[in-house]
Amino acid sequence: MKLLESIAPGDPDHELALALDPRKLPSHIAIIMDGNGRWAKRRGMPRVAGHRAGVKVVRNIVEICANAGVQALTLYAFSAENWKRPRFEVEMLWRLLRFYLRHEMEDLQRNNIRLQSSGRVEELPAVVYEELRAAERATARNRGMVLNLAINYSSRFEIVDAVNALIDKARLEGRLDSLVVDEAMVSAQLYTAGLPEPDLLIRTSGEMRISNFLLWQIAYAELYVTETLWPDFNRTELLRALLDYQRRERRFGGIGAAEPASESPSRAEADLEEIAVSLT
Ligand code: FPP
Repeated sequence: MKLLESIAPGDPDHELALALDPRKLPSHIAIIMDGNGRWAKRRGMPRVAGHRAGVKVVRNIVEICANAGVQALTLYAFSAENWKRPRFEVEMLWRLLRFYLRHEMEDLQRNNIRLQSSGRVEELPAVVYEELRAAERATARNRGMVLNLAINYSSRFEIVDAVNALIDKARLEGRLDSLVVDEAMVSAQLYTAGLPEPDLLIRTSGEMRISNFLLWQIAYAELYVTETLWPDFNRTELLRALLDYQRRERRFGGIGAAEPASESPSRAEADLEEIAVSLT
């Protein structure tokens, strides 16, 4: 694993990386990067200083995930509800995004990372939208990790947009009367179509909320919440989250692999009799 090679032996992270099972890495990690404001406030700084520090962490985590061999990383950069923030803060977030896109292009290309976005990005200020689309076009041929930035994103909007797209398509094709929607059809209309569903959802700053993020896609994701604020999130924290994820038993609604195989039908019949009797 490239990640292991990038950590000097003797660095405490080396031990953590060694403990990782490269065959059991999440294909897709999604992160709610929370706590920038609190990080800044604790230091007597303006909230935007927290966002600025948060960008440095984005750069670091993107590279680590790419080196670890993760297929997709989705970062919640701006929710559709974030427009309610003071205008100055919103404008700073756009400036930081543009700064990131300009300064990271070389690294994204070097690491073969494909940038894409999720959200109603056409509602962004025109210059931001243009630079985002240009970055997507410039990295479109890269075949390494997908960096999916959720910007002006609302999961409910996404699902509503997907359903409406299916209705519009069926109407155009004259088959609206017989339209029956299934899960695969909805998934194929989401911004994340083509990406594996997130296996691991990380939220920083200790909040136990999903905040309208990837509601459809995280149906079976493992959740990991850390008290650490986003600007303090680092490689050690990410490795801990990955190790915690690898210790989980993912059941997808079934039973664990360690459980005994199904009982014999006659035994099950007898058990049912006993339950029925105890209920009467
Ligand atoms: C949540 O913290 C963070 C955000 C709404 C913005 C996240 C943006 C960045 C990390 C920088 C830009 C991103 C990219 C991809 C370049 P908060 O402000 O809600 O923190 P608080 O809950 O402590 O107030």
